[in-house]
Amino acid sequence: MTPASVPIDRRRVAELTEREEKRLEQETPKSYELFRRASESLVNGVSSTYQRRDPYPIYFTHGKGSRIYSVDGHEICDFHNGFGCMVQGHAHPAIVETIKRRSELGTQFALPTEDSFIVAEHLAKNFRLPKWRFVNSGSEATMDAIRIARAYTGREGVLKIFGSYHGHHDYVMVSLGVADFGDIGPRDNYKSISYGAGIPEAVVEMTSAVPFNDAPMMEARIERLIEEGRKPACLIMEAAMMNLGVVLPEPGYLEAVREITKKHGIVLIFDEVKTGICTAAGGAVERFGVIPDMVTLAKALAGGLPAGAIGATEEVMEVVASGKVFQVGTYSGNPLSMATARTSLEEVMTPDAYQHLNRLNDRLIAEMDAVADKHGFPGYTVGISSKGCFNFATGKITDYESFIKYQDVELCQLAWLYNLNRGVIIAPGREEEWTLSVQHTDEDIDRYVGAFEDMVKEVTA
Ligand SMILES: Cc1ncc(COP(=O)(O)O)c(C=O)c1O
Repeated sequence: MTPASVPIDRRRVAELTEREEKRLEQETPKSYELFRRASESLVNGVSSTYQRRDPYPIYFTHGKGSRIYSVDGHEICDFHNGFGCMVQGHAHPAIVETIKRRSELGTQFALPTEDSFIVAEHLAKNFRLPKWRFVNSGSEATMDAIRIARAYTGREGVLKIFGSYHGHHDYVMVSLGVADFGDIGPRDNYKSISYGAGIPEAVVEMTSAVPFNDAPMMEARIERLIEEGRKPACLIMEAAMMNLGVVLPEPGYLEAVREITKKHGIVLIFDEVKTGICTAAGGAVERFGVIPDMVTLAKALAGGLPAGAIGATEEVMEVVASGKVFQVGTYSGNPLSMATARTSLEEVMTPDAYQHLNRLNDRLIAEMDAVADKHGFPGYTVGISSKGCFNFATGKITDYESFIKYQDVELCQLAWLYNLNRGVIIAPGREEEWTLSVQHTDEDIDRYVGAFEDMVKEVTA
């Protein structure tokens, strides 16, 4: 946290935001042209609401290494990295070679291939869970993991952390961090709040949320749910939250969560869709040394191809092995994704690659903090391995409540625009963070820190 922060002039922030909006519009006429055509047939001109941007999105043509290229002719340092999928960097030679080789051998049979169990063997070793299944996305992974936990326990309720995102299926589109929901109820009995329309109220009510970094509150809520006859089947959580910026677990918290869930017979699922692969070969399990009953993976697993995975103990996965749960999917274990996942695990995400990510991330964190300190700018940086963010905040963020209380949404928005106009992109949204790739260099870090310092100087001038 910056020791003594200067007050932020809101009028100045609004002026800078308007100026940067105008500049972006002036420099992206081709994107606007494409948007007009795209939105005739593609809703909002994009394939996912998370790609939507007002007044229009910027369209891209290709990526190479740490850079992506817009239709407007800009070369941009990519810290967005496909919401954290591209920790390998764009068009990594080993991944490109694998795609070429595998595509000539056929890309889909819906029959097993060797790469699938070789990838499973790597994941079993790295994440310390013996049994695996593959799917196509993070949402599929968390949906199936929850179903497996329900079948295993014979219960229906889901416990999650308020503010965490686990995909777009009904069980978990509840009490997310992307929105300021206003009154969320008392800390020991948060409301279950649907994110968007179309989610049955009965399903929303099955999912309860508790604050992150507060084990006593979690245990109290579990006891209350038991009293109400609604003991949850599982707790699904990120061991380090990556959907409220980055929020690290306080010392002892994950150990306490492990103990509480074990004591109550609740399946502990670490959703490692963001933390897995990107923070260590064995993700948060390796980083924090706490072993859950289940893990879900996706995003960076297959080097930019769609793939997800569910790992679990032998005992939990028995409900799948015995045929009690149908864990299925036509494209599951797709040969192309399995081939790139294998290459990524064996050739790209090596110990040296993690060392490189850690070094660059440590540099970025230290230099952003130094800039903030130098100018008395409010906020602090937090990160782990390839991930991190600058928290534009006047207090420490440890959970959803402190995120809503302290985070400065206007500065987040300005920073995103400011960066893009200076050739740096991060994932859009107040709840997102940066992801480095193994192909990032010190020059990319220089550019990010430079853009940040320019903005800080202008805001505090
Ligand atoms: C932690 C977490 N779980 C699950 C998902 C859903 O993954 P997908 O978008 O691949 O369905 C996400 C996506 O951002 C995520 O961050």
